[in-house]
Amino acid sequence: MHGVAVTGGSPSAAGRGDRERLERAAARAGLVHDAARAGARSHFRAMTIDPDRLSGPIVGIASTWTGTMPCNLNQRELSAAVERGVAAAGGVPLPFNTIAVSDNQSQGTPGMRASLVSREVIADSIELMDIAHDFDVMVCIVGCDKTTPGALMALARIDKPAVLLYGGPMRAGRHRGTRATIQDVWEAVGATGQGMMERAELDALERSACPGIGACAGNFTATTMAIALEFLGLSPLGTTLVAADDLDRRRVDAERCGVLAAGLRGGRSARDYLDARGLRNAMAGIAASGGSTNGFLHLLAIAREAGTPLTLRDLEDVCDRVPVLANMAPSGQFVATDLDDAGGVPVLIRELIAAELIDGTVPTVEGPSLAAAVADAAPPDARITFAAAAPFKARSGLMGLHGNLAPDGAVAKVAGTERRRHVGPAQVFDDEASCVAAITAGRVAPGNVLVIRNEGPAGGPGMREMLSVTAAVVGAGLGESVTLVTDGRFSGATRGLMVGHVSPEAARGGPLAVVRDGEMITVDVDRRVLAVEVPAAELAARLAAHVPPERPARGVLARYSALVESASDGAWLSNGRGRVDEG
Ligand code: FES
Repeated sequence: MHGVAVTGGSPSAAGRGDRERLERAAARAGLVHDAARAGARSHFRAMTIDPDRLSGPIVGIASTWTGTMPCNLNQRELSAAVERGVAAAGGVPLPFNTIAVSDNQSQGTPGMRASLVSREVIADSIELMDIAHDFDVMVCIVGCDKTTPGALMALARIDKPAVLLYGGPMRAGRHRGTRATIQDVWEAVGATGQGMMERAELDALERSACPGIGACAGNFTATTMAIALEFLGLSPLGTTLVAADDLDRRRVDAERCGVLAAGLRGGRSARDYLDARGLRNAMAGIAASGGSTNGFLHLLAIAREAGTPLTLRDLEDVCDRVPVLANMAPSGQFVATDLDDAGGVPVLIRELIAAELIDGTVPTVEGPSLAAAVADAAPPDARITFAAAAPFKARSGLMGLHGNLAPDGAVAKVAGTERRRHVGPAQVFDDEASCVAAITAGRVAPGNVLVIRNEGPAGGPGMREMLSVTAAVVGAGLGESVTLVTDGRFSGATRGLMVGHVSPEAARGGPLAVVRDGEMITVDVDRRVLAVEVPAAELAARLAAHVPPERPARGVLARYSALVESASDGAWLSNGRGRVDEG
C-alpha cells in the first residue's frame, strides 16, 4: 500500500468518477502551457490551431453525414457553417463524423437489421469522441431516423451543454399533378405486387417521389424526432423543418448554432432538458403532430440513458390527453416543409401550452422558457395546423396497449384509417418475408390479424420495420380490414391499424411465440387492450415447451442480441448489470 486508505472492496463508482473529473480538469488546465501536454499542442498546431486559443470553449461538432443516402447529404456544409460560428465567437471547433444508415434502402431486406443497432453505434461514437477529447460543448447535426435519438442518448450519457441542429426535410415530389413521397412509392410496390398497378407507373412514381436531398418529407420518424427536438428545447425554435436544400437559410441557422454553442460552456447541460417534463413534452409533440411509433422507443431509451424515470404508461397517458393538431402524412395530407411554411413547430407548441397540455416552463437552449420562445408563433391556419379547441383529430393515433399478449406492453398506431378496434383470427408468420409472400399470393383474408414474430430487438435481431408488410397490405386493398401485430416495429410512413413493440418479444419468452393460427385476437386502442383468447394455463404450458429459434453467434448483431433490453424499455443497450436508472 502506498498511502491509499482502503476500507474494503474496490473504490466506489462515485470515487472513481470524482477522480476522473479531477484528472480531466488538470489535463485541461495544462493544455495551453504545461510541458506534459506538449504532444497534444503539437497536434493542434498541425491543424493550424494556436494553443493560446485552447483556453476558449472547445466545441465538438458531431455530424451524421454519410454519402450513402439523401437524408444527411447537406451536413458537411452545415458542419462547416457551425465551425465558422464557433470560431467567430472565440471557440475552437473540432468536427467529426458518425455512421448513419438509410431505412428506405434496406427496407424489406436483411439490411434493415442494422437500423436500430446503428442508433447505439451513433451514441457510442459520439460518447467515445467526448471521452477522448473532453469537449466543453457539443453540437450534434442530425437528420435520418436513428441519428437524432442516437445523438440524444450520447448527450444524456455525457451530460454537457449541447445544441442539436437538424439537417432538414426533403421536399415532396410531384406525380401526375399530386404530391408524392417515399410512402407512395412503398404503397405502389404493394399495389404492383397485387397486379393493381402497372410496372411503368411504379417506375414513373419512383423517379418523381424524392426530388432532392433531405430527410423523408412526411411526418415519418425523422420528422417526428425533429419535432421532438424543438419541444425538448434543444434545437433553436423554428429551425428544424426548413427544407434541406434551402442552403441559404440552413447555413444561417448553422452559424447561429455555432455562435450559440460557443457561449454555452458551463451552462445548462443535456440532462436539464431530458428530464421527465421535457420527455413528456416531446411525446405530446409527437402525438400532436401525428408522428411515428418509433418516438416511444427512442424517448424511453433516452430516458434510460439520462436516468429519467419514465415508462410506457407515462407516455401513453400523454397520448391519451393530446389531440392531433397537424394535418401531416401519413395520417394526413401535408409534409414537413408545409408545416414550416405554416409557422413550423412553434405553432404546435404554443397551442399545447395554451391548452395546458404541455409544460411551458421548461428551458430552451437559446435562453427563454419554451412558452416565451414561442410567444410570437403564427396562429393555426386550420388547414395544416389546428387549434387545440378545434383539432385536426380529437384523439391521438398513438397508444400503448396491454394484455395477455403483451404483459410488458405494446404500441399501437392508427394512421390513415378510422379503425381503432379489431377482433379477428390470427394468421401467424415466423418472419416478415413469409408474411409479405402470403399477402402477395392472395393468401390473406379480410378480417385477419397478421402476427409476425421473432422480429424483436433480440430475436430479429434489430427489430426491423415492417413497412414492406404494411405497404403490401394497403397495396392489396386490405388496409381497412386487416391488422398487424408484431414484436418488430413500424416505419413512420406506415398506414393502417397496427401494433408493434409487443413485449416481451417472442424470442425472450413472450406469448406472441405460441399464438396459433385461428386464435382470436383483440386490438382495442381506446381500451388499451391487446389480448388473445387462450386461457392463461394453456399459454403457460405452451411457453414452457417452446424452443426459440437460434440467433446469430458472432459479430455486431450477436453482441446486440445478447445485450439489448426490451422494446418496453426503449430497446437500449444496458451495461448487462441491470435494467434501468444507471445514470
Ligand atoms: Fe433517412 Fe427517411 S430514410 S430520413
